[in-house]
Amino acid sequence: MEGAATENSVAAMAACYERFDPETFLQKFCSAEEIHLDREDGITRWELARLHGAFTEGDMRGERLLDVGSGPTLYQVMSACEVFNQVILTDFLEANRRELRLWLQNEGGSKMNWTPFLQHVCKLEGRRPSEWTDKATKLRQVVTDVLPIDVHRPHPLGPDAPGSLPFALADCVTSCFCLEGASPDLGAFNRALIHIVSLLRPGGHLLLMGNLGETYYLAGPGAKIPVVALSEAKICSALKESGCSLIRLEVFQRPSYDSKEHSDSEAKFFLKARKN
Ligand SMILES: C[S@@+](CC[C@H](N)C(=O)[O-])C[C@H]1O[C@@H](n2cnc3c(N)ncnc32)[C@H](O)[C@@H]1O
Repeated sequence: MEGAATENSVAAMAACYERFDPETFLQKFCSAEEIHLDREDGITRWELARLHGAFTEGDMRGERLLDVGSGPTLYQVMSACEVFNQVILTDFLEANRRELRLWLQNEGGSKMNWTPFLQHVCKLEGRRPSEWTDKATKLRQVVTDVLPIDVHRPHPLGPDAPGSLPFALADCVTSCFCLEGASPDLGAFNRALIHIVSLLRPGGHLLLMGNLGETYYLAGPGAKIPVVALSEAKICSALKESGCSLIRLEVFQRPSYDSKEHSDSEAKFFLKARKN
């Protein structure tokens, strides 16, 4: 009975995502007028700085990085592309995978302008913002695949895909704002974390970014997506269950200037952990 109830609630979440619209999502969460890169206390600045910090501490090495639930976004791998030779993006929705491919193909098919993000990450790396075109080229070189994924499956990429044995496991797994927005409840969130950690090699790093205390976000016309409201304690407990050891967990309170129109998130978290 419990298994059937879980399956139903996971299926209900998948149905919510049928209304997810990549264009609306990018406009609401990643457009130049929403990200406030000029503000010291900007959320996106905090996010990009956390990712930059995590990838430049000297302990992150290896061939392959897997980003889980990439959505239509690329900001989360702009620091990573300087460290890992192969970056694999993944998402549940073909519409998001298509948007990613359009940008990667660089044939003018994507309307999304990632330039402000690329420029800012160049600045974090001590490079001139004008070098953003080199970073865009690098990103397009190292992203080798955009794959379907379902974090609610024990083999999220499917049994025969890269990341599943006997293929090499990832040296690093990243996932931003995905698991809490893809799971119907805390139990499903915990299991989803275990599933994605199974794609990581022992000793490899897990980077997770997400929302604390969020119960919904808007991702398209009529697409109010329910979210599992997380706390630091819930995240730490899930991490322990997944077989990872926490290196650090950082929290950023949502600044008052940020409108609650698109989401009721209270704060952002970023964690770096290592698989035991
Ligand atoms: C809030 S968006 C985050 C996108 C991106 N990572 C970011 O940082 O903006 C949540 C993403 O989770 C994906 N998702 C939903 N259900 C999923 C599932 N069962 N497995 C994997 N990803 C899922 C959605 O398609 C969506 O792209």
